Amino acid sequence: MAGPYSLWGELDSLLQDREEAGLLRRVSTWTPRSARCIEAPDGRSLVHFGANDYLALSWEPRVREAACVLPSGRYGAGASPLLTGHTEAHEVLRRRLAAMACSEGALLFSSGYAANVGVVSALAKGEDVVFSDRLNHASLIDGCRLSRARTFIYPHADLEELRALVRRHRGEGRRAWVVTDSVFSMDGDVAPVEKLEALAQEYDLGLIVDEAHATGVYGERGSGLLEERGCRSDRWIKVGTLSKAIGCSGGFVVGPGVLIRYLENAARSFLYSTSLPLGHCRAAAVAVDMLGAMGKERSALRSVSQTLRDRLRDLGHRVGKGDSPIIPIYAPSVRDVVAWSQRLAEGGFYVPAIRPPTVPEGGSLLRVSLNIAHTPGDLDALVDACRF
Ligand SMILES: Cc1ncc(COP(=O)(O)O)c(C=O)c1O
Repeated sequence: MAGPYSLWGELDSLLQDREEAGLLRRVSTWTPRSARCIEAPDGRSLVHFGANDYLALSWEPRVREAACVLPSGRYGAGASPLLTGHTEAHEVLRRRLAAMACSEGALLFSSGYAANVGVVSALAKGEDVVFSDRLNHASLIDGCRLSRARTFIYPHADLEELRALVRRHRGEGRRAWVVTDSVFSMDGDVAPVEKLEALAQEYDLGLIVDEAHATGVYGERGSGLLEERGCRSDRWIKVGTLSKAIGCSGGFVVGPGVLIRYLENAARSFLYSTSLPLGHCRAAAVAVDMLGAMGKERSALRSVSQTLRDRLRDLGHRVGKGDSPIIPIYAPSVRDVVAWSQRLAEGGFYVPAIRPPTVPEGGSLLRVSLNIAHTPGDLDALVDACRF
């Protein structure tokens, strides 16, 4: 005879465990006020160092105007792309993304998450091997899991360890892949893309790179780190998102026509999901169009990032290296990072505390995320508030 249904009690005790470890998370309601300010759930206005809208394009009037529903048009796409969900708005956006990346084609997904999961699981087969950076985004990790390929995790950005793994296991797979973020989402550092390209050539590896945080931020056209570093091998398969510097929502992959035609038939998160709303596509197309002319903003962002890192180091903090707009300030413990974030909020700044499982155990950090709307005064005040 069954007793009371046990699931709810079990979930409650799992949540309590998380709470005791300081790891319980909750959704709360925030009100964006401008590219640099956000209103907290308690009504206080905070300088926003937590968004990925690096170029403030989600506030750009032309982008917002393009997102409006046309009087004669629909809002939702109403169907998946291979039925009737692919419209002129989707086609224009995919052509612009392909042009930005100097690629033959592009394919749209409902999010960057869906793009990574769809691309990796459609390309890596059960008889393949995958080498995946330890700090890759969850969506690449899930893509590897779904692919059923044998996956080897290499220590973060460690080319020598990766080479050793490749030497040992390359022969065990029909095809072998390296899967990596280009800019890492929490640590804000970059993958050694030139060396990965050379390794791929040497051992005949496929390369899947997630340019989510590099799009708009690196490269003369703003297409990402591969453009910046001159990595032009035709082995690269580049995934990106419209949700960060492009300021909208949705994901994409760019590459040769044959790749796009294959993924149109094989990427399940593309095939079995409704196309993006039309306004998203129009807004993103305007933002993508603007990226090429934002070289000055890119340089400014990167130089502010370097200066801020130096100033935080001068205060004695352990700060990640690089010049991306994501600046990690490492904390000794989960409790410290939560306390630091709370203190900053009390001082008028939103800087999220990032804890396991988003980062590995022991890797808790404050994630400072810059955008071009922050003023020199905002940065001075933040440095001042970081004296802990
Ligand atoms: C590196 C990386 N890849 C992919 C994603 C997923 O993108 P999206 O938020 O568009 O689903 C994110 C963002 O959360 C990310 O940080």
